[in-house]
Amino acid sequence: MKAGDLSRLIPLARKGRPDLVIRNARVINVFTKEITETNVAIADGTVIGVGNYSCENEYNAHGAYLAPGFIDGHVHIESSMVTPASFAQVILPKGTTSIVADPHEIANVAGKEGLRAILALSRDLPLDIHFMLPSCVPATPFEHSGASLSADDLAEFLDDPMVLGLGEVMDYPSVVAGAEDMLKKLERFGDRPIDGHAPMLTGKALNAYCLAGPRTDHECSNFPELKEKLRNGMVILIRMGSAANGVTEMFDGIVAENLPTDRICFCTDDKHLENIRTEGHINHIVNVAISRGIRPLDAIRMATLNTATAYGLKRVGAIAPGYRANLVLFDDLHTVVPKAVFANGTLVDPNAPIPSPAVPESVKNSVHAAPFGPEDLKLSTKPFMPIIETVPHQLMTRLVTGIVPTDENGYFISEDGLNKLAVIERHHATGHIGVGVVEGMHIKGGAIAATVAHDSHNIVVVGDNDADMCFAGETLQKCGGGFTVVSNGEVKALLELPVAGLMSDAPVETVLKKQQELLLAAHALGADDACDPLVLLSFLALPVIPEVRLTDCGLFDVRTMSFLYNSVS
Ligand SMILES: [Fe+2]
Repeated sequence: MKAGDLSRLIPLARKGRPDLVIRNARVINVFTKEITETNVAIADGTVIGVGNYSCENEYNAHGAYLAPGFIDGHVHIESSMVTPASFAQVILPKGTTSIVADPHEIANVAGKEGLRAILALSRDLPLDIHFMLPSCVPATPFEHSGASLSADDLAEFLDDPMVLGLGEVMDYPSVVAGAEDMLKKLERFGDRPIDGHAPMLTGKALNAYCLAGPRTDHECSNFPELKEKLRNGMVILIRMGSAANGVTEMFDGIVAENLPTDRICFCTDDKHLENIRTEGHINHIVNVAISRGIRPLDAIRMATLNTATAYGLKRVGAIAPGYRANLVLFDDLHTVVPKAVFANGTLVDPNAPIPSPAVPESVKNSVHAAPFGPEDLKLSTKPFMPIIETVPHQLMTRLVTGIVPTDENGYFISEDGLNKLAVIERHHATGHIGVGVVEGMHIKGGAIAATVAHDSHNIVVVGDNDADMCFAGETLQKCGGGFTVVSNGEVKALLELPVAGLMSDAPVETVLKKQQELLLAAHALGADDACDPLVLLSFLALPVIPEVRLTDCGLFDVRTMSFLYNSVS
């Protein structure tokens, strides 16, 4: 808080002259874990006191619980496919008033320009947004992304007040091996928060990783893993977004062993708009925690003060003098369903769009693939052809081999439940195209394409004929990226994502409607409900999830970290 603000607020607090009072609330104090029936006084968006206050402008809470606004400790805004302003519009009514975001996706597309753009799009919103700078761009050396970011590149952003520290250090092999550029990054951020990302890392390798600097982890999938990482001094973020592995087991373990919860927080990582709308956001994790036996005030503290403390966030995460008036009101302490949310002391209107800063030109028109045609998607076959087999309801795949149908020249044709998959490099028009065979997508008479293709976000396209696959790719090239479903040379559904090919600047309702149209069109081509075909497609090019993936460089065996065959061009 600035000296000017203080000289105005101190007399108001002393004389008891707020500009808003929330009356008759059961106020949750996360420091002492007490609940007190009282009033909260607010001036200039700041809590100036809790107690016997009154003023002309009063909000009657009618005995409801009042908690600090929730904090998401690790989230990729881009995964919502909308701009930060629209994301704020969706999560604020769920009670999340602060986030720690990692702009890893837009950085992989647009590098430093991407970082500048997302910072610009996030300024002066009612949502309190902080950033961790992405540590792993590109994510892997097995694909081509739009940019790479060195320690020096990241250092340029350290003076920005929205920047906290270094984002999830996913490349844990480089950390444990002591790779030079990785160590340079860790040193540069040595006095700042550094997010870890070390699924299943244990023993001496985990010790080496912790020693190197990462201080949090959001990848735990079972209780022993959580406990070992806590012992090693890590703050644990329990994640419930698109992935939620082992969450109930972890809560059960914490309760059974009466483990201290002060170094455990919550995060969503990736969660789609529709799921946030229907299920909730951080409040959903609070409710799951409580349902597994975590005491409500502990769960609320995990979602607020613990996260603020872990990331050094100032003046959020509690209701006390000098804290921002980010507040959530709800009736049932065991099932947190926000009935009113205040952001900086202003009541959030869940139906009012939040105006977005203009999208910088630098992140528009980001799709630059070299010209491609059906000839470029031809795939020579061999007797034991490697095939990507999808697994129902999971993002993991299996590597199988088999005889695949071919034309008279020995090129693969889509038949018998097999489809063609292609990944087309789209950042620097290099002409790299990977082509493979996928089982389990069930596409007939068309193609589905996306420029959301983790983590390098090239064009990924699946289909049963080369003409539609090329048409789908071209459609995205023309509109600057997004998702499309095409059939017989006709666009059946299209969600344009003009911001880096990842996010839409259209209203939230438009994006949700188009997502629904895409799903219907994908189902009309034969995609089943075993897995959301759009989500599945977005992950088929990510060469870190077992067992097999396709990148623009070729078909990649994740278990051996080697290519089964290289790209056709
Ligand atoms: Fe993440």
